[in-house]
Amino acid sequence: MEMYLLISITCLIAGTNGIDRDFPPIIKEPIVSQTKYEQAGAEVIMACKADANPPAEYEWKWNGDKILNNEHIEEDSNSGEIRFKSLTPREMGDFQCYAYNRIGGKIIKAASAIITVEVAYLNSWETNEDLPPRISVEEGEPVKLTCDDTPSRNPPGQFKWYRGDEDGGEVIQDKRIAIDAEGSLHFAYALKAVDLAGEEYKCAIFIRELNSINLGSGKILDVKELNPIPERKPNVVYYKEIQKALVGYDVDIECVFSGYPLATITWKDKDQQEIPTNGRGRYEFIEESHRILRINKVVETDEGTYTCSGTNKVGSDDRSTFLNVTSRPIWVKALSTLTIVEKRTAPMTCKTRPSIREGPNSPPEWFENGDPISQVKFNSGKYVLEDNGQILRVNDLVKPDDITCYQCKVTNSEGFTFGSGCLDVIEPIEIIKHPEGTQVIKKGDMVDLTFIAESDPAWTLYDKWYFNDEAYPNRPPFVTYNETANTAYINTESLTDEEYGKIFGVYTREIFHQHERKNISTLVQEKDKEEFVRGSSPFNWWNLLYILLALVILAIIAIIIYCCCCGKTDYNVDEKEKGLWDAPKEELKYYEFPDLPQAEINGVEPKRQPLQLTDDPVNFEDDESLN
Ligand SMILES: *[C@@H]1O[C@H](CO)[C@@H](O)[C@H](O)[C@H]1NC(C)=O
Ligand SMILES: *[C@@H]1O[C@H](CO)[C@@H](O)[C@H](O)[C@H]1NC(C)=O
Ligand SMILES: *[C@@H]1O[C@H](CO)[C@@H](O)[C@H](O)[C@H]1NC(C)=O
Repeated sequence: MEMYLLISITCLIAGTNGIDRDFPPIIKEPIVSQTKYEQAGAEVIMACKADANPPAEYEWKWNGDKILNNEHIEEDSNSGEIRFKSLTPREMGDFQCYAYNRIGGKIIKAASAIITVEVAYLNSWETNEDLPPRISVEEGEPVKLTCDDTPSRNPPGQFKWYRGDEDGGEVIQDKRIAIDAEGSLHFAYALKAVDLAGEEYKCAIFIRELNSINLGSGKILDVKELNPIPERKPNVVYYKEIQKALVGYDVDIECVFSGYPLATITWKDKDQQEIPTNGRGRYEFIEESHRILRINKVVETDEGTYTCSGTNKVGSDDRSTFLNVTSRPIWVKALSTLTIVEKRTAPMTCKTRPSIREGPNSPPEWFENGDPISQVKFNSGKYVLEDNGQILRVNDLVKPDDITCYQCKVTNSEGFTFGSGCLDVIEPIEIIKHPEGTQVIKKGDMVDLTFIAESDPAWTLYDKWYFNDEAYPNRPPFVTYNETANTAYINTESLTDEEYGKIFGVYTREIFHQHERKNISTLVQEKDKEEFVRGSSPFNWWNLLYILLALVILAIIAIIIYCCCCGKTDYNVDEKEKGLWDAPKEELKYYEFPDLPQAEINGVEPKRQPLQLTDDPVNFEDDESLN
């Protein structure tokens, strides 16, 4: 085996010389999907911003299509702004910004989150020349006045009822009077007092976003007085068999009861547990009558059957509503930007799930830079779809060709979820200089531990030391740095024998940045003792002579002690002998190091041989005392 006299160490980290690295656009705004309600006629400006090098330009899409600048919409491809001069319902829809730049001769486009633009508006009721419908009831009978021919509007708004007109006063809901989700006005029982003597009850729609209210759909209510008012058992006059709810939003479950006297309303949750009248957890009653059960911020496990009961002294009634909790596809792992080293594979992942007990989501539709991916890339094996198309694997990455952006769209019954993520490909960490894989040394030699590495300048390199698999935050023992020469080494000459015995083993330097880790190791072995004996240096022969001499003396002493003291085994060796016999414990650790080739492990074996050199009566208890 060859001897390495000089071996040294340092991890010289290549400086970050360039900030001017090309990278694909990273969208900064908008990054959260949202719905924007704006008034018709308003001027609306939406911004799009992305970090990119070269700097990004922008383009907006409307319901997936390019927007043509016209007198209603203006786009600025440099600032990323889109401007609606005077918003109308015509411009409602999904707006999405694409930020693009040019790397490696092609255009790379990242997609923003989607902004859904809703225009708040409220049309007028159709004027109706017919006489308003008349509804005739007796006192104690339930009343339902429907809100008919409602005008088109956005958002749906809130129903209200007025007596006569706006000046006549709003009908205030109480335990007896309710307006249901479809706008109908209910009286649990009629009284002569609600007869407006030929005046109309008028339905109205209030839109908070517009702070505007429109009246229409008049009804005339005639009530016939009775004395006494007959009692009636409660009946459910409004409820829904199925109520849909979206995860994360509040939902109201409603039951309107008739009956005289008034029914007392109670609720059971999906586990058939009575809900206390002051609510519980996310359950809340928003009307004093308790006819509306509100569940705040619905979660998937809220799905189930809720039951309302109404009871008075003559009887009771109940109904069950199935709360169907749904959601757009829910992210399990959203498509995101990845930075990956050349030659490796990039797993672009677009993983979603439906909400509990819902049908499956569609497999993702994939796009590259905003366009469907060409089949050629799949045919060539460059792209592979896995896991039901939820992972797009990009193989054998090359810089800059594979620097690009992907988008995915997953659809279900409730709508779609859109993901966007770019792939940045970087050069691997390169090892410029490293010591030999194995260094066989003797006392006086230098151990080379100089590692020099380089990486893509955008990432700072870090390093970490291991010696025989143990991490050293600073550096392993006896390792010296020479800052001027950028070297690291162990100078064995300056070590005591005991220290020298501890330096053998595997030195590993883990070199890493955010996106890659690399280990480089060198095994430091003590020069084979047999070789040592066979060596040509007279010094070695002298050593051997000393050993033999020492052994002879030991043997004689041992015999004398044995003879004189009849088996007393205590025995001391002097320091010199100790150094010669002491097989360094650390050496044994080589056997545990999994990365070493078997040949090198075997190469260590002969070192223990010298222990069997003699037949002299040095017994093994003594051998133990040597360690
Ligand atoms: C809930 O509603 C969705 C969409 O309307 C439907 O596909 C689904 O089957 C419903 N779930 C249940 C449990 O009824
Ligand atoms: C490098 O080696 C150390 C010690 O054996 C180990 O803990 C670490 O995980 C290795 N790192 C790599 C990237 O292999
Ligand atoms: C460090 O290396 C330089 C250049 O090789 C050398 O001149 C200097 O003596 C070394 N310093 C130490 C402390 O060994």
